Amino acid sequence: MLKDLSSIFLALAFVGCVVGSSRFDELFQPSWALDHFSYEGELLKMKLDNHSGAGFSSKSKYLYGKVIVQIKLVEGDSAGTVTAFYMSSDGAYHNEFDFEFLGNTSGEPYLVQTNVYVNGVGNREQRFNLWFDPTKDFHTYSISWTQRQVLFSVDETPVRVHSNLEHKGIPFPKDQPMGVYSSIWNADDWATQGGRVKTDWSHAPFIASYKGFEINGCQYLDGASAAENMKRCSSGGDRQYWWDEPTMSELSLHQSHQLIWVRANHMVYDYCSDTARFPATPVECEHHHH
Ligand SMILES: *[C@@H]1O[C@H](CO)[C@@H](O)[C@H](O)[C@H]1NC(C)=O
Ligand SMILES: *[C@@H]1O[C@H](CO)[C@@H](O)[C@H](O)[C@H]1NC(C)=O
Repeated sequence: MLKDLSSIFLALAFVGCVVGSSRFDELFQPSWALDHFSYEGELLKMKLDNHSGAGFSSKSKYLYGKVIVQIKLVEGDSAGTVTAFYMSSDGAYHNEFDFEFLGNTSGEPYLVQTNVYVNGVGNREQRFNLWFDPTKDFHTYSISWTQRQVLFSVDETPVRVHSNLEHKGIPFPKDQPMGVYSSIWNADDWATQGGRVKTDWSHAPFIASYKGFEINGCQYLDGASAAENMKRCSSGGDRQYWWDEPTMSELSLHQSHQLIWVRANHMVYDYCSDTARFPATPVECEHHHH
């Protein structure tokens, strides 16, 4: 019996997939300002005050998968603050997929900025407002990463897709392992109304609350080579991963309609249409038809 259990455990460890955990401390650890964290059952609170912000990171790195978290953003006056939830690899030529929530004065709407870094280069910002007040309740924010696309969703509604256009000669972030991160910090030099509104420290502490952590991806093994990890984390033989399913390589018709709706009704900035900043249309924008 014991032997059977341990061989099952070994089989799972070999596949290396973490499925649907919701416990913060199984998947993540505080990375700085440990005294700015508090725990209430399944709930995690992270605060920013005039001494420090705070941040946490995943214990493992992943190749492909979906990361999900429920966040309730800073209530009341959050001007000057940024709360971020993102995936990132390491090094000078790193890849990164960002959600950044830009705070605002009481009663004014948060903005959500997304960005994609490929081989160390970002400058792919999009901004949109939300169709709900993100400070009143928890909402689900997720990043889904396959070899075909990076998909950002809010309550399962797609808000951005970054497609693999390698066949057009455009690099796609698919071979560097990514960690999962979140942080809250003071960014009053740019975050709110272009930096005109500063953080009002008399309203500190600024608190972001989290729950429902999930990482459903392929855990990267540091002891294995990059090529071995690529192989382990891609379908083939008896390995069948959801992120390699054909349905994961593009949006469904329903998702495409949702994304069109978000872009038409909630998008306030798209680097692809910022001709002042990019006189020559960024190359991947010419091929994105959304
Ligand atoms: C931080 O804020 C508190 C409360 O508003 C204040 O008493 C303290 O002096 C501030 N500390 C710094 C380093 O600004
Ligand atoms: C804050 O509110 C103002 C006024 O409604 C709005 O123009 C701005 O986009 C909002 N968000 C941020 C992050 O500045």
